[in-house]
Amino acid sequence: MSESYDDLQTSYGRCLRSGSFMARFYEIFMASHPDIPAMFAHTDMGAQYVALRRGISVAISHASGSTLSRRTMLEMAKVHGRGGHAPVPPVLYAHWSDSLLRAIAEHDAEYDVALEQRWRKALDHTTSYFASQY
Ligand code: HEM
Repeated sequence: MSESYDDLQTSYGRCLRSGSFMARFYEIFMASHPDIPAMFAHTDMGAQYVALRRGISVAISHASGSTLSRRTMLEMAKVHGRGGHAPVPPVLYAHWSDSLLRAIAEHDAEYDVALEQRWRKALDHTTSYFASQY
């Protein structure tokens, strides 16, 4: 049975409202593993904020069982697969999730343990899917 993650879309909306969420996420994420900054050395970070902003929303929909998000998820997974333009060794995904959860904790005033567990479940769904497509 799929589960509704409307509470996560709402939490995510609260995070984005401040305007500094994406920049803060990448600050935490870059510092989380020595291999990560080099991966973004040639990236237009403004465009990247926009791409990930949408990517996270699609990932939440996909975790809740939406079939509309399937194709976009597969495209994002391919970008991060071995043959994609930004291959991501699956071992790095834990850093991505932990960094995102830290940024959410800082930006969502309603964040608590229950919400954190739900976010983690949805993010695990995404990262295990990407890893399976590697
Ligand atoms: C350890 C985890 C991750 C790393 C190291 C990583 C790294 C990258 C890099 C280096 C790029 C390319 C930037 C460029 O074009 O210069 C990229 C693009 C992108 N990433 Fe990730 N990523 C990670 C996880 C994710 C996850 C989990 C999502 C989705 C929820 C995601 C969504 C995207 C999207 C939408 C793009 C733009 C794709 C495009 O250019 O077509 N990434 N990522």
